[in-house]
Amino acid sequence: MRYKKTVLITGGAGFIGSHVVRLFVQKYPQYRIVNLDTLTYAGNLENLRDIEKAPNYTFIKGNIRDTAFLKDLFESYRFQGIIHLAAESHVDRSIENPMEFIETNVIGTVNLLNAARLAWRGQEGCRFYHVSTDEVYGSLGDEGLFTETTAYDPRSPYSASKAASDHFVRAYHHTYHLPVVLSNCSNNYGPNHFPEKLIPLIINNILHGKPLPIYGDGKYARDWLWVKDHASAIDVIFHKGKEGETYNIGGNNEWKNIDLVEKLCDIMDEKTGKPQGSSQKLITFVKDRPGHDRRYAIDASKLRDELGWTPSITFEEGFRMTIDWYLTHPDWIKNVTSGAYQQYYEKQYDNR
Ligand code: NAD
Ligand code: TYD
Repeated sequence: MRYKKTVLITGGAGFIGSHVVRLFVQKYPQYRIVNLDTLTYAGNLENLRDIEKAPNYTFIKGNIRDTAFLKDLFESYRFQGIIHLAAESHVDRSIENPMEFIETNVIGTVNLLNAARLAWRGQEGCRFYHVSTDEVYGSLGDEGLFTETTAYDPRSPYSASKAASDHFVRAYHHTYHLPVVLSNCSNNYGPNHFPEKLIPLIINNILHGKPLPIYGDGKYARDWLWVKDHASAIDVIFHKGKEGETYNIGGNNEWKNIDLVEKLCDIMDEKTGKPQGSSQKLITFVKDRPGHDRRYAIDASKLRDELGWTPSITFEEGFRMTIDWYLTHPDWIKNVTSGAYQQYYEKQYDNR
């Protein structure tokens, strides 16, 4: 079959990437979707078992840090679109080991920009979509929301590396007229989320009767978005976003960590038939994360007003679907938490 275009999705074996790959493979049979992922601890091909045999899908194991590999890849596949999600994504790990974040998130992104620039010289109709985070804007006080014009103020090695990559993407647009579009999204939740991040970590610990670590006073706030709604926003921005523009994506759904964890405990008790209040007894306040950002909240009105995107489900629905997914996928949890995960978790917890 002759495809209308070939789209490269990087980081497609990870949490958000796997939902984006599935959406594009199923919704656009006229596109050839190439998933490039190096399969770090966070990448898992099990996330894509249901679509791996689709005729318009190809997986390639490779590292965006490797320039020679990227050159060959871009010569073999004439990509017209790139959706770049590959990254080191966990703030706590970035505090332990910032270099990994610079190498993948900054240098890896610039490697991809260079490959696209070389491949697309004189070519029309191409698009480089960079997927980023609201954490680049820093931390809010009790009031206010991040907009697309909020000044960058990254405060963790993770957010600094994402901010640097965002700047490079914009610089390549201004300097070389690379056709780019960007988005900055709030915290995602849903199936296939690696259990180092708050929601799946708490679910996993409840299932194992382990303490539920709450950093600091637990009053840190995050805006939570259903991962499939992030994927649908990426679809809309990839196809309709204006070249050179940035769009904030958010769920208009702010929660303090402690309130979110208490709600999670109550639903887990309900679903697993335990007496109400049992899981909350596991809540343990631990030493705070260094440099912990107090509050993130997103104004996503530009995306709504200009491109017509809004979240498709309520948090109540998404949260329950997420919990059901974890309760019905014990093997997935077991596989991703075997081996190095245990060591990582114990080290994190011992340090607190
Ligand atoms: P993730 O850690 O679950 O997945 C990252 C994927 O990238 C993994 O499959 C990993 O194997 C791959 N990868 C890492 N280094 C690579 C390299 N050098 N070469 C090729 N592949 C590599 O991350 P996620 O939560 O799915 O986040 C995806 C993107 O979305 C990231 O860019 C992140 O900054 C951004 N983002 C995440 C959130 C969130 O709440 N998780 C919110 C906003 C933006
Ligand atoms: P996380 O899921 O790591 O996402 P991010 O730091 O990128 O927002 O953390 C979400 C919030 O939960 C953040 O305020 C840190 C806090 N947190 C805990 O209190 N305990 C934990 O064990 C983890 C992993 C996070």
